[in-house]
Amino acid sequence: MAEPYNSGGILMKAVICTKYGPPEVLQIREAGKPYPGNNEVLVKIFATSVTASDCIIRGFKIPFSMWIPARLALGITKPRKSILGLVLSGEVERAGENVKEFKRGDKVYAHTLFQFGAYAEYICISESSAISQMPSNIFFEEAAAIPFGGTLALYFLKKANIQEGQKVLIYGASGAVGTSAIQLARYFGAEVSGVCSTVNLEFVKTLGADLVIDYTKENFMDTGKKYDLIFDAVGKKKSSHLQYKKALNPDGRFISVDDGSPGEQAVNKANLTILKELTENGIIKPVIDKIYPLNQIVDAHRYVDMGHKKGNVVITVGHSTKY
Ligand SMILES: NC(=O)c1ccc[n+]([C@@H]2O[C@H](COP(=O)([O-])OP(=O)(O)OC[C@H]3O[C@@H](n4cnc5c(N)ncnc54)[C@H](OP(=O)(O)O)[C@@H]3O)[C@@H](O)[C@H]2O)c1
Repeated sequence: MAEPYNSGGILMKAVICTKYGPPEVLQIREAGKPYPGNNEVLVKIFATSVTASDCIIRGFKIPFSMWIPARLALGITKPRKSILGLVLSGEVERAGENVKEFKRGDKVYAHTLFQFGAYAEYICISESSAISQMPSNIFFEEAAAIPFGGTLALYFLKKANIQEGQKVLIYGASGAVGTSAIQLARYFGAEVSGVCSTVNLEFVKTLGADLVIDYTKENFMDTGKKYDLIFDAVGKKKSSHLQYKKALNPDGRFISVDDGSPGEQAVNKANLTILKELTENGIIKPVIDKIYPLNQIVDAHRYVDMGHKKGNVVITVGHSTKY
């Protein structure tokens, strides 16, 4: 049976999250193809990504103390938004009559935030939300690798008031947030150290880190080096200012990717536009670990569940555009 999604009676392929659980709860089904409202664009999706957040929601990997509010917000036994997926790139197929910024055929990329819905062939997105023209120098797969880590890293580095010349350490330098943070910290003029595992040392250097530290061999706090800013891009509430005090300068700051839920403060059109320009100027390079077709979404979730992806895991929807 087709999942009800929006209107129109025409069907599309989508990944439905049938309940909270392991990757196998994701099933490819038919859903109603959405039709754009006056202020929306209908986007034909070419690529999406499996983000850490997708896996947290699918598996309901939420701390016990947050279970009740999280189930009320997300859905009691399964996600209320049955089509998961936060980021996408694609082409505008139809623009609502009040839409000014986009027209049919525009290549766009977007972050859907609490709307989800990117694991599908089509989505309708409000013109005013986090959607922008896509960077002109990259492919759809690459564009889908930017919005998740890019918007979070940009938000947290700015929140921490990163300044030129500062010594900055990015903990978890090889993930989606970490790879963006290394590149952005360099752009802001910082001297950047990155912490990652052995296999990623050379790769993190190529992103622009001045120094790389292997957390499997050495605790960065034992090197004697002090930082003006430490950004924990791994999160999950495992770190604190107190824990890292020894490695911070007297005025040094610590910030974690899990310090609150910035929502639209991070995920907005302005930040996607900044990331577009930085990408076009060669400052941000999208990092893709693996690419799966939509019908292998379960395998992609299994891989991301392991917690060691390098940058981003991209899903192609329909025809692959490059790879
Ligand atoms: N505040 C918010 O609203 C918000 C929203 C979305 C996500 N988040 C948070 O952002 C986090 C990061 O997302 P992501 O997509 O960047 O995750 P990711 O791509 O899965 O990256 C995880 C990183 O953690 C590193 N890592 C794993 N175990 C480690 C350990 N023991 N010590 C040091 N590093 C370790 C991995 O590097 P190696 O492979 O080299 O070990 C990898 O680079 C998520 O887990 C989530 O908690 C927050």
